[in-house]
Amino acid sequence: MATRSFGEVGIREGSSGALMLWLEGKVALITGGASGIGESTAKLFVQHGAKVVIADIQDDLGTSICEQLGGHETISYVHCDVTSDSDVRDAVDLAVSKYGKLDIMFNNAGVGRLETDILESSNENFKRVMDINVYGGFLGAKHAARVMIPAKKGCILFTASVLSVMGGFADHSYVASKHAVVGLAKNLCVEMGRYGIRVNCISPSAVATPMLTKGTGVEKEALESLFSEAGNLEGEVLEAEDVAAAALYLASDESKYVSGVNLMVDGGCSITNPSLSMAIKSRMS
Ligand SMILES: NC(=O)c1ccc[n+]([C@@H]2O[C@H](COP(=O)([O-])OP(=O)(O)OC[C@H]3O[C@@H](n4cnc5c(N)ncnc54)[C@H](O)[C@@H]3O)[C@@H](O)[C@H]2O)c1
Repeated sequence: MATRSFGEVGIREGSSGALMLWLEGKVALITGGASGIGESTAKLFVQHGAKVVIADIQDDLGTSICEQLGGHETISYVHCDVTSDSDVRDAVDLAVSKYGKLDIMFNNAGVGRLETDILESSNENFKRVMDINVYGGFLGAKHAARVMIPAKKGCILFTASVLSVMGGFADHSYVASKHAVVGLAKNLCVEMGRYGIRVNCISPSAVATPMLTKGTGVEKEALESLFSEAGNLEGEVLEAEDVAAAALYLASDESKYVSGVNLMVDGGCSITNPSLSMAIKSRMS
C-alpha cells in the first residue's frame, strides 16, 4: 500500500489501486471551521469523502473555503455563534436537511488569551471564554445528540488543548475551560455509549494558527520556530494539518471502539517538565 502526499493524510491505495477514503458517506459539522485547525479539518474531511458543514462567525472566510472546495454539493457554510442555542440547532438541522444525517460533530470553535495575571483578568473575559469554549461545546453536543440518538450512531469530538492537563501557559479562563471540556466529554462518553455514540477530545500543544498569530502579533514562521525549539519532539513542528489528521482518525471507523479519550497531539510535551534539566544545564555550562 502506497501512502500518498502530505496533503492527503491517511489516503492510501489498496491493492486494487482504489483510494481508501476514511469518511466516505459521512456527514460532519465543524464549528470554528473557517480558520486554523477547523479549516484544515474541513479540507481533510472533504478529501476523505465527507460532506461537511462549516459553522463559524467569520462569514467571508467560511464562504470562500466552501468555494475553494467545490461548493454546495460537498461543503456548506452556516453562520453560527456557538453560544446561541438557536444558531447551533439550525446548524445541526442544516446538516441533516442538506446531507441527510449527521455522523460527526466536531466542537472545535474556541478563543483564548495568553495573560495569566489573576488581578488583571477581567470578569467579562472569563465568562466569554467559558461561554464559547464550554457552553458552546455543550450546545454542540446537545443538538448533535438530538439527531444521533435516534440514529443510534455518531461521533462527537472536541478540540480541548494540552492545557486541559497542564497549567501556567495561558489565561485562567482558557485553562479552566479546556479542563471543563474534557470533563464534559468524559460525562457524555458514558451516557452516549448507550446509543453507540463515541465521544473524544483532541488536545494539541501550540499551533501557529490565527488564534496565536493575531493574539501575539508574531508571524507564523517565528512562532513555529519558537514552538519547535520549546517542544519535546526534535525536528518536528506541530501544524493544523496534524491536528486535522487526529480528528480524521477519531471521526472515522478506524477508531470504532475508541471513546472517552483525550488524545494528546503534543509531541509528548505534557508528560515532561523541562525546568529541572534546564536548570541543571545552565549550572553545568
Ligand atoms: N492554536 C493553538 O495553539 C491551539 C492549541 C490547543 C487547542 N487549540 C484549540 O483549537 C481550537 C481551534 O483554534 P485555532 O487554533 O484553529 O484558532 P483560530 O482562531 O484559527 O480558529 C478558531 C475559530 O473559531 C471561531 N469562533 C470563535 N468564536 C466563535 C463563536 N462564538 N462561534 C463560532 N465560531 C467561533 C473563529 O471565528 C475561528 O474561525 C480552539 O478550540 C482552540 O482553543 C488551539
